[in-house]
Amino acid sequence: MKRIAVLTSGGDAPGMNAAVRAVVRKAIYEGMEVFGVNYGYAGMVAGDIFPLKINSVGDKIQRGGTFLYSARYPEFATLEGQLAGIDQLKRHGIEGVVVVGGDGSYQGAMRLTEHGFPAIGIPGTIDNDIPGTDYTIGFDTAVNIALDALDRLRDTATSHVRTFIVEVMGRNAGDIALWSGVASGADDIVIPEHDFNVRKIVERVKAGHKRGKKHTLIVLAEGVMGATEFAQKMREAGDDSDLRVSVLGHIQRGGSPTARDRVLASKLGAFAVGLLKEGKGGLAVGIQNERLVSMDIIAMLTNHKHETDLSLYELNRQISI
Ligand code: ADP
Ligand code: F6P
Repeated sequence: MKRIAVLTSGGDAPGMNAAVRAVVRKAIYEGMEVFGVNYGYAGMVAGDIFPLKINSVGDKIQRGGTFLYSARYPEFATLEGQLAGIDQLKRHGIEGVVVVGGDGSYQGAMRLTEHGFPAIGIPGTIDNDIPGTDYTIGFDTAVNIALDALDRLRDTATSHVRTFIVEVMGRNAGDIALWSGVASGADDIVIPEHDFNVRKIVERVKAGHKRGKKHTLIVLAEGVMGATEFAQKMREAGDDSDLRVSVLGHIQRGGSPTARDRVLASKLGAFAVGLLKEGKGGLAVGIQNERLVSMDIIAMLTNHKHETDLSLYELNRQISI
């Protein structure tokens, strides 16, 4: 393959720029031509496609967001949209495409592959909800942002003897909640992948206060319910502490990526190009046990689901007594 394109799609994630940089630099290193597509699949269909050179990706590795922009473009779920996108790629002489995005974006890459156009998916989302990879690009940064916020909230919780319910992102996955919860020493972590009992949580808060505990932190994954609703349920279950809620929101998605996300993005970007160079497409790349892996994207999306590491939940239950 001599001419490829790269795009970012779905929710932006810190480290997407590092991934695009790696794709561009590795492609040029291998003697290939590389094009950028603005605004994900929307830009593909609109023909918003332009050449990327070595210096197009200079000064980008440390930046959050995506300089190729992103979009939610439901029209790409239609056959018409997909064929129009392929038509635009072909007009530019492009033979393969790298898609950096979440599970929705992977669906788009899978459709391209089904229509005979080689696509490779790179996992880029803060949610860490993509099957076939232990970590997605952006997850580590989001966890560290949530952790920083939790450490700050703990200060106020201690000063005022308060209970904080902190709602973190993750869509339907509890990974951000689990990791930031364990790292911050949260008293409870509430995630969609595990059942919970509000009455027991309230009992634990009360027991902590009796022991002289000043701060109480409860990390709540947005996929369970909103923090205000959860606070209401705690009240109904007899909570009488000085309760506050904090919704971290999109702050978790912005800013400079951590070293771990930059390195992961660099590895996966270069790896994807190596595969396309060999003429291989229809793949999703990822990292498993610190090793780069590639899988058939259709088989992966059809047969696998992301698995949240529930040993972290059990660990927190044991050490946050
Ligand atoms: P993410 O990739 O972060 O999960 P979305 O779910 O919004 O974000 O998906 C990003 C984009 O991928 C969508 O806006 C759409 O253009 C494309 N997409 C999503 N689902 C499909 C599908 N079933 N078929 C083709 N394209 C899809
Ligand atoms: O997929 C990333 C994510 O930030 C989720 O954690 C969250 O549920 C969703 O996107 C928010 O979407 P939007 O940016 O469209 O409000």
